[in-house]
Amino acid sequence: MAGKKNTGIKGIIDWIDDRLPIFTLMDEYVGPAYQTPRNLNYWWNFGSLAGFCLIVQIITGIILAMHYNPSAAGAFESVEHIMRDVNYGWLMRYIHSNGSSLFFLVVYIHVFRGLYYGSYKAPRELLWMLGLLILVLMMATAFMGYVLPWGQMSYWAATVITNFFTAIPGIGEWIVEWLRGSFAVDNSTLNRFFSLHYLFPFLIVGVVILHIWALHTKGSSNPTGIDVKKGTADTIPFHPFYSIKDLFGIGVFIVVFAVFVFYFPNLMSHPDNYIQANPMSTPPHIVPEWYFLPFYAILRAFTMDISVFGVTLIDAKLLGVLAMFGSIILLFFLPWIDKSKVRSATFRPLYRIFFWVIVADLFLLGVAGAMPAEGLWIYLGQFGTAYYFLHFTVILYLLGKYEKTRPLPTSISEPVTK
Ligand code: HEM
Repeated sequence: MAGKKNTGIKGIIDWIDDRLPIFTLMDEYVGPAYQTPRNLNYWWNFGSLAGFCLIVQIITGIILAMHYNPSAAGAFESVEHIMRDVNYGWLMRYIHSNGSSLFFLVVYIHVFRGLYYGSYKAPRELLWMLGLLILVLMMATAFMGYVLPWGQMSYWAATVITNFFTAIPGIGEWIVEWLRGSFAVDNSTLNRFFSLHYLFPFLIVGVVILHIWALHTKGSSNPTGIDVKKGTADTIPFHPFYSIKDLFGIGVFIVVFAVFVFYFPNLMSHPDNYIQANPMSTPPHIVPEWYFLPFYAILRAFTMDISVFGVTLIDAKLLGVLAMFGSIILLFFLPWIDKSKVRSATFRPLYRIFFWVIVADLFLLGVAGAMPAEGLWIYLGQFGTAYYFLHFTVILYLLGKYEKTRPLPTSISEPVTK
């Protein structure tokens, strides 16, 4: 490079960047060089919030693992030891347990933002699918993490959920044994869940890197859903505009987080999990954490086998398992089911109504999943499940084809600069 060489900090940065262009990369990803739509609203804060949650979970998790004992004989006691004897152990545990709930809340809002503004549509299909992969990994991680304190709910949730795999014809029993590492949930199950619970967050980090890479390749969408023209009044640099806005969001989030951790640390957990796991005593009502409830309701919605002339073709339990996995797999195909050329619900009056209907449907499924599977709740769970599949197949397809959308602005800066 001709000209005067930089000295001091700038010189060191240039020296490193010349050999490993990490600062150039940062500039392109979160610096002034990254041009972003000027009209992103606060719903666009939830991606960075999700990243913040992931980091908090990993740091607190690593500290907890230093004091945790992953054995059926010692796990429950070691968690009590963390709560009572370890310096700030209670804080680490409450941040980690409340953090998992808030992480799901943030990611669910992030997903619904994507649904509302049509962020899953071309050219961001792969970004959406990588997001869904993250969600599946998060679910597996949270499920295994919940087993670790070895309380009654830990033990029985693991038993009930792994049991569902027996429904797979022929190889079901074998799969369950393989998952548990034993004939019942026991020490070997706890060991492998601990190992995988430690591993999966790092897989999530890997997929998040791909997620952000895909995001930066095509750029963020925006509340109008129309394409931005780079280098015009449509865009502003990420730094300082959105770096400050993201930090502000994280600040507000920390306040909400602190209210849970310091004032209601057990609000989102089940009291039975403060009773040590006892394979000889089944709790009257086994429920998963709130973020699994809609999927649990779908799992339990099937009460009848599919039979022809008295021969069972698919039994109810298998139908439940297929529907539960199907409910997530279906979302991977959303960019192709919803063929509407208009992305944002702002310009799709009918889609907007159905968006709120599916939100209400998921609340209904959540409540149905929390209730004992009896009486009216069975029917409401079945209704909610049927509507879920109807929405993400027929309704979205028909809306994409026939809905009369509102006229789109020609550019996102038009309403501001005119
Ligand atoms: C650990 C979990 C996740 C992290 C850290 C994360 C991170 C991010 C970040 C930082 C952004 C840019 C800011 C924003 O648009 O909010 C983003 C955008 C996006 N994410 Fe995620 N995400 C996660 C999970 C998900 C999931 C589960 C989905 C969907 C199933 C998803 C779908 C999307 C989409 C479609 C966009 C582009 C939105 C747009 O520009 O309109 N993400 N993500």
